[in-house]
Amino acid sequence: MDQQKKEGRYSRINKQLQELLGKTNDPLARMASICAVLHHKMDHYFWTGFYLLKSDRLVVGPYQGPVACQELEAQKGVCWEAVKRKAPVLVDDVRLFPGHIACDSRSRSEITLPVFDRQGKVVAVFDVDSDQEAAFDETDRRALEDILSLIRPGTE
Ligand code: SME
Repeated sequence: MDQQKKEGRYSRINKQLQELLGKTNDPLARMASICAVLHHKMDHYFWTGFYLLKSDRLVVGPYQGPVACQELEAQKGVCWEAVKRKAPVLVDDVRLFPGHIACDSRSRSEITLPVFDRQGKVVAVFDVDSDQEAAFDETDRRALEDILSLIRPGTE
């Protein structure tokens, strides 16, 4: 997908989600809606979901796509890297990322982004896998950070 088309699509999704998420302030419900909308509107998404940070464990939350790992081995892989960095992680080729956890062997590239509460604490990770190499770039990162800011955990 070219950049302009991608930006346009993210912008329409953001508007749609703002309307949808306004109907509840429950973070899990918001996460579920975000997954469903993004997964069905973005062709390069193969697995789309959240891992919830619960007492130093990353446990699967709302997601769309093939069946995923229930819980991720501690301190390992691309999701944990986003928790440790408190910043997004983009991986062009998951086979080259040391410690990558393959829940599905078809995954080729990945983006993970932390979800923060009002105090700036990481409460979850948003994870998208693609079955194409280098599917994610700065346009995805920016657009996804904007979308994730709509969750607002801790305000319910
Ligand atoms: N690849 C992730 C694990 C989650 S799955 O991609 C759904 C990781 O390395 O943390």
